[in-house]
Amino acid sequence: MSTTLTINGQSHQVDLPGDVPLLWVLRDQIGLTGTKYGCGVAACGACTVQIDGEAVRSCQVALSDVTGEVTTIEGLGAPGALHALQQAWVAHQVAQCGYCQSGQIMQAASLLATTPAPTDAEIDEAMQGNLCRCGTYPRIRAAIHSAAKTLEG
Ligand code: FES
Ligand code: FES
Repeated sequence: MSTTLTINGQSHQVDLPGDVPLLWVLRDQIGLTGTKYGCGVAACGACTVQIDGEAVRSCQVALSDVTGEVTTIEGLGAPGALHALQQAWVAHQVAQCGYCQSGQIMQAASLLATTPAPTDAEIDEAMQGNLCRCGTYPRIRAAIHSAAKTLEG
């Protein structure tokens, strides 16, 4: 089955069965390996990408169900530039092993799109499905606050 996807602003033709998870398409077909496989059952958030700006678990989205524009960590910032969240992640030295962090950032980006100045409680609520085995949660929260201030200008 041939499917046309728009990923990070570029059109891609994918010849795969419709039930293949979007995560495998991104990583194995398109080569966008910033999106990670953690659990495969929507329980960790490592595979989080956006479809039309909404954070989704790409391990649970079938190729045939992708109806909007996909954004991955590679396409979050403007071309050649880091997104404010990525800059804040660097400034706050959020990552430890780093495995969960692209999913964390994509989830945070969806939060800031709808809630430009989130409270701690709103951050915790929005981010609760994104697990970090390294326990970087306090720095994630600080980085989100920092990016929110930058984006608000
Ligand atoms: S790999 Fe998709 S939520 Fe864990
Ligand atoms: S930084 Fe290691 S799992 Fe989150």
